[in-house]
Amino acid sequence: MIESLPDQYRWASELEAPTIAPASTVLVCGMGGSGISGDFVRVVTAAEGVDVRIHKDYGLPAWAEHVRPVVVAVSYSGNTAETLSSVDAALDYGLPVAVVATGGELTRVAGANDLPTVRVPAGMQPRAALGYLVGAVLRIVAAASPLGDPVPMLLEAGKETADLLGVERAGPGHDQARRIADALAGRLVAVWGSAGPTEVAAQRWAKQFHENAKTPAYWSIVPELNHNELVGWASSHHGLSSTTGLVVLRDQGEMPEISRRFRLTADLVGPTVQAAVEVWTTGTSVLARSATASLIGDLVSVYVAEAAGIDPVPVDILTELKNRL
Ligand code: PA5
Repeated sequence: MIESLPDQYRWASELEAPTIAPASTVLVCGMGGSGISGDFVRVVTAAEGVDVRIHKDYGLPAWAEHVRPVVVAVSYSGNTAETLSSVDAALDYGLPVAVVATGGELTRVAGANDLPTVRVPAGMQPRAALGYLVGAVLRIVAAASPLGDPVPMLLEAGKETADLLGVERAGPGHDQARRIADALAGRLVAVWGSAGPTEVAAQRWAKQFHENAKTPAYWSIVPELNHNELVGWASSHHGLSSTTGLVVLRDQGEMPEISRRFRLTADLVGPTVQAAVEVWTTGTSVLARSATASLIGDLVSVYVAEAAGIDPVPVDILTELKNRL
């Protein structure tokens, strides 16, 4: 499924952009593997000064009724309770709504209300459809905002991810991911990034560790972590250094102040963290840089799962919770 990511970005570049009324604010509503597409699009559009906000809960945030954003509801299954509830609230407020889904109740509601809809190919895990979902949301946001043509960045994301993957697991991304997986196997992982491409990539890494490697992981960003987490990591009294690992995501576009913070932070935690690895984004556009840093995390999470004899695909416990609700 990971190998199909380059084609997913290319698929989105060929989509017919939906017609949607322009708005100064776009609110992307979705959960988990679908909702993270909104985080990617927020990072991409922030660089262009477009106001994209994220909602990962029932209903809508209180400001939506007054600000009147375009609401983009994204759910791979089309049956996620929180996302359906956001659409209900948006329709109650008379807000413009667009939908991204494979089918389900969301496309039924979209059909009944004549909402612009992008149907993404079905049959995958939602988190594996990242390129389809990011691409579809991006095409809708571009249609509703002054973002400009997203096709070049989608094509670049396709090319850069394809270069990393190579053919039959022989690309440089696989080599890098195998080395990192060896270093991190059996450890509790924290992933650090900074505002922009590595912020969303750090989030993706942690979630892929949870779902693919079935092991807890968390993420945070510089400079905020310099004001709290640094203390925990630089202390040795808890004896965690042999059981934890640190992934530091770096971006060639990061501010010099951020680079300096990463260097100094690495010096300070160096004595207490046995497994620390650095991963750099590749590509030019914010989308390509977000996609490449995320792809390495996807691969690492699967290599860690393979090494532990775990099937990375099923997430039965998420379904169990949904059934119990
Ligand atoms: O990875 C997963 O399967 C989950 O995070 C789902 O994406 C999440 O539960 C939401 O479901 P859907 O993507 O179908 O809206």
